[in-house]
Amino acid sequence: MAYNILVTGGAGYIGSHTVLQLLLGGYNTVVVDNLDNASDIALERVKELAGDFGKNLVFHQVDLRDKPALENVFAETKFDAVIHFAGLKAVGESVQKPLLYFNNNLIGTITLLEVMAAHGCKQLVFSSSATVYGWPKEVPCTEEFPLSAANPYGRTKLFIEEICHDIYRSDSEWKIILLRYFNPVGAHPSGYIGEDPRGIPNNLMPYVQQVAVGRRPHLTVFGTDYSTKDGTGVRDYIHVVDLADGHIAALRKLSEANIGCEVYNLGTGKGTSVLEMVAAFEKASGKKIPLVMADRRPGDAETVYAATEKAERELSWKANYGVDEMCRDQWNWASKNPYGYGSPDCTN
Ligand code: NAD
Ligand code: WQD
Repeated sequence: MAYNILVTGGAGYIGSHTVLQLLLGGYNTVVVDNLDNASDIALERVKELAGDFGKNLVFHQVDLRDKPALENVFAETKFDAVIHFAGLKAVGESVQKPLLYFNNNLIGTITLLEVMAAHGCKQLVFSSSATVYGWPKEVPCTEEFPLSAANPYGRTKLFIEEICHDIYRSDSEWKIILLRYFNPVGAHPSGYIGEDPRGIPNNLMPYVQQVAVGRRPHLTVFGTDYSTKDGTGVRDYIHVVDLADGHIAALRKLSEANIGCEVYNLGTGKGTSVLEMVAAFEKASGKKIPLVMADRRPGDAETVYAATEKAERELSWKANYGVDEMCRDQWNWASKNPYGYGSPDCTN
């Protein structure tokens, strides 16, 4: 019998790509999303891309903090596992509005965990982040590194990781996988789904993409005096389809006995600088990205990339795509959808 998977935040960037891989993998998939930072068009397109498997997707527009509504979703379907993406993720906004982030991310997660426990669903995959490594003293970052939070967003990830460890300590029936994503970029190779941030993008590649389609005049490069190959910050960019496949690997792991509460990095293990990423995008798109060099962005680390051995060994998963494919697919999405899922008059 097919597995039933609940995906919170499944209309979002990483969620929509993961839902597609789940459907194609034969999973029945129920999405809960309040559409605060997503469009239901993404799920319509996922359904189309999934072909015959599209019928196995159900969507509920529900806020995770609405416990009665979430109870109804669990009453309708017996879930084998939950993949929990739903949360707010803008670092700068979290500094301005910490209570919004604590309310949404923490209360949303606690409500979800309570409802899961009440319905006997004790298998969880959670979206954590490389942000929990703070400014790492060395690279690559292994899962055993000391953790820290530089902002309220990162603190929600740290807290939720701790909450998950405590829950497992209190009840060993739980199986929990905490996935620490590095820098997800790119889009599905069809160019039909991708990242569509609201307002001014915070992250590098959505910004580059909007410069390429003429929505913004230039990219500001934050920091040119780091001790890196070209002075700009180095990150571990990972293709969103590789990341989505990492969740399927995590689900397979959940079916093993006694896995406890385990943490895995999802990255490529390779560091790429801002200027290298821009050059790769220019090559893929044939577009020139005008640059304005600026000071470092407060709170930014210099170099962050993943140790990938644990995920390779224990999840039998590793990233397949490199930065050229990431940029090719990002451009394919951007050129086909210059205004994302919206139209020119409903963006800023
Ligand atoms: P996203 O904003 O595209 O997706 C998150 C989804 O959750 C959105 O569709 C939003 O509408 C929904 N949501 C938010 N709060 C909700 C609530 N209370 N109830 C129901 N739905 C809610 O973000 P993403 O990039 O797809 O990220 C998914 C997860 O991965 C997030 O938890 C994020 O913190 C984490 N993460 C993202 C990155 C990244 O760079 N994109 C890196 C590391 C970790
Ligand atoms: C990458 C590099 C910037 C924008 C953030 C979150 C982290 C995680 C992933 C969720 C850095 C430079 C960026 C720009 C630039 N998200 N940059 N100009 O900072 O590694 O991580 O997203 O968990 O928590 O902090 O990603 O894409 O913002 O930046 O020069 O306009 O690009 O300085 O070196 P970051 P990013």
